[in-house]
Amino acid sequence: MTNYNCKEEAVVPMTELDRDTLLAALRSRRTIRQFKDRQVEQEKTEKILETGRYSPTGSNAQNAAFTILGNRQKEAEGICVNLFRTVKKLGSGFVPFLKRVEILNSFFFKGAPLVIVVSSKSNVNSGLASAYMEIMAESLGLGVLYSGFFVVCAKISGKLRKLIQLPKGHKVVSCIIIGHPAVKYQRIVPRKEINAKTL
Ligand SMILES: Cc1cc2nc3c(=O)[nH]c(=O)nc-3n(C[C@H](O)[C@H](O)[C@H](O)COP(=O)(O)O)c2cc1C
Repeated sequence: MTNYNCKEEAVVPMTELDRDTLLAALRSRRTIRQFKDRQVEQEKTEKILETGRYSPTGSNAQNAAFTILGNRQKEAEGICVNLFRTVKKLGSGFVPFLKRVEILNSFFFKGAPLVIVVSSKSNVNSGLASAYMEIMAESLGLGVLYSGFFVVCAKISGKLRKLIQLPKGHKVVSCIIIGHPAVKYQRIVPRKEINAKTL
């Protein structure tokens, strides 16, 4: 095959993972919304990106892009905050939630040091990459918040899409906010009964 960097790699089957620990860890994962004032180490960031790179894609398209907001993070958050404050002003009369919510300057990224925007032409490919990256981040002792609110802002704001240099034809599928967690949970969020059937 051309265009590939084909180096020999050890194959590690998933069966080598302890499945009970894996299931228990997946069941225990929680969203983190409070972060320590501490950078995410470069090796950890690289591991997270590498996990996204190796996530499966339809037809092996490998078409997800990962954008670390880096030096533009504050500016991106500023655009989102202004947008939501406008929405709050216009919509508070109709939507009670908007009246109650306070949109602080850190409303979107919660002071976290690392924000990765995952974009693609395919929701599924990017969604899978995001989930893989989340699990890797948590295995590295980091906390993660998916920001659906940021995705909404990227849909509305051309200014934001320009700032994050969204690749042509891509849409923002997820925004993964990562940092060292400043909280520890005692409990998981209760789940409904499974919605599954066999035909
Ligand atoms: C796609 C997606 C988008 C989300 N967007 C937000 C968000 O914008 N703000 C927020 O505070 N939480 C957000 N969350 C977190 C959910 O509210 C959270 O996962 C859910 O309440 C269950 O809690 P848990 O993750 O601690 O188990 C999002 C989660 C997902 C999966």
